[in-house]
Amino acid sequence: MPRRSESVCSVPECYFSVGVRARQRRAVDSWAISYYRCNWMKILVIGGGGREHALVWKLRQSPRVSKLWCSPGNGGIARDAECLPVNPQDVAALAALAEQLAADLTVVGPELPLVLGVADEFSRRGLRIAGPSKLAGELEGSKVYAKQFAERHGIPTAGVYGVHDSPGGAYSALCAVDWPVAIKADGLCAGKGVLVTASPDEATAFIERLMEKREFGEAGCRVLLEEALEGEELSYIVLTDGQDILPLAPARDHKRAFDGNQGPNTGGMGAYSSHDLLAPDLEQTILETIVRPAVRGMAGEGRPYKGFLYFGLMLTVDGPKLLEFNCRMGDPEAQAILAQMDFDLAEALEAVASGSLAKIRAARNHGASVCIVMASKGYPSNFETGRRIEGLSAAESLEGVRVFHAGTKREGENYYTSSGRVLGITASAESLDAAVHRAYEAVEKIWFEGAHFRNDIGRQGVAGIRAAGD
Ligand code: AMP
Ligand code: GLY
Repeated sequence: MPRRSESVCSVPECYFSVGVRARQRRAVDSWAISYYRCNWMKILVIGGGGREHALVWKLRQSPRVSKLWCSPGNGGIARDAECLPVNPQDVAALAALAEQLAADLTVVGPELPLVLGVADEFSRRGLRIAGPSKLAGELEGSKVYAKQFAERHGIPTAGVYGVHDSPGGAYSALCAVDWPVAIKADGLCAGKGVLVTASPDEATAFIERLMEKREFGEAGCRVLLEEALEGEELSYIVLTDGQDILPLAPARDHKRAFDGNQGPNTGGMGAYSSHDLLAPDLEQTILETIVRPAVRGMAGEGRPYKGFLYFGLMLTVDGPKLLEFNCRMGDPEAQAILAQMDFDLAEALEAVASGSLAKIRAARNHGASVCIVMASKGYPSNFETGRRIEGLSAAESLEGVRVFHAGTKREGENYYTSSGRVLGITASAESLDAAVHRAYEAVEKIWFEGAHFRNDIGRQGVAGIRAAGD
């Protein structure tokens, strides 16, 4: 992992690869140092999971970044950024923190502070932030708003059976759907607000949990019933400043807890991104029929969207269709995507905040990156924490491997598990096959009691790519 001093500017490698004489080289170095000193940025990252560790890792590589903080961060992030404990739901406290630190830019990892209006609070105080306003964040905060928005702008998506505010209405509507059906709570439910089922009993029980037992509070008071789509899922994430778009490398998540896509849904048990995941013409179709209409539509509705915009897609036989928007990067997709990213993320995020994204050129690494999540025993239900983690250094010493911490805390020289998803073992290589092999080699070196991980992350992709090339 590249390490940089926080007080001394590091200049890009390219300055040292030019074959100039020593005096010329000193002049170039001194110009570069002055340039970067004038343009150094101090950045605050909000969040404390694997995605935020990967963001911090990527931002550290920028010669423009002189200081990084992360709030609240975690045990592993603390090696790469100064961690400051602030409640991510307290938007006023987050803005006060950025003000006190005199941060030049704040980057938000998770959705909750955005949906609660952290970007609006920062704007009110004249602070720079790369993230959507509360109104723009409704694309993730309200499934009903997102669905109606997609329909208004002709974005291909699953057909709607209905939106219901009362349990009675929702139960009756089940009589008129084609099975399987997708049932979605309107509000944020930490990834647990969607059920796709072919069973009327399961559907009824889910509606009861959402609307009568109120397991997710207000978030489940309104439900959307929609057609269940079939196909392969894809996570397509872009950066946008409200007008221009910078697409990131596409990725595929693995949401179910167990091998073969079995078991309950989780936040994500692993993801991969590879240069050949998406054919160029299909990517163009996604951009033209889904991404551009969404960014244009938000601007047209007076809610210009700034930040990471995540399109959860189903690649159906009728073409790509939208399943959901998220107002952030996915986790663990971010770990794989950031490992594939070949441009200066700090510059791009500054351009998002200042509305000048058009000047940034995106580039993706050739090859592939894969992230395998190691989780605590019992995740995604009740899980154990406080287990000592062994083997981190051995795993990180493997070529092309980075270990992103999601739920760890540090005590002395040791790390302990502190959450459901614990680590994201991320490996890059010239092919998906090689990246998967390398990542599992690293996983085998790490141990904590009850550690749970899937054995098939990226394997279907490897098989799929082989089949496509047959
Ligand atoms: P969401 O929170 O909307 O992304 O839904 C979570 C997961 O549910 C998605 O990643 C899909 O696996 C699945 N899903 C959501 N909507 C549909 C749909 N209309 N058809 C099939 N699967 C869906
Ligand atoms: N990994 C899926 C998500 O972050 O929503």
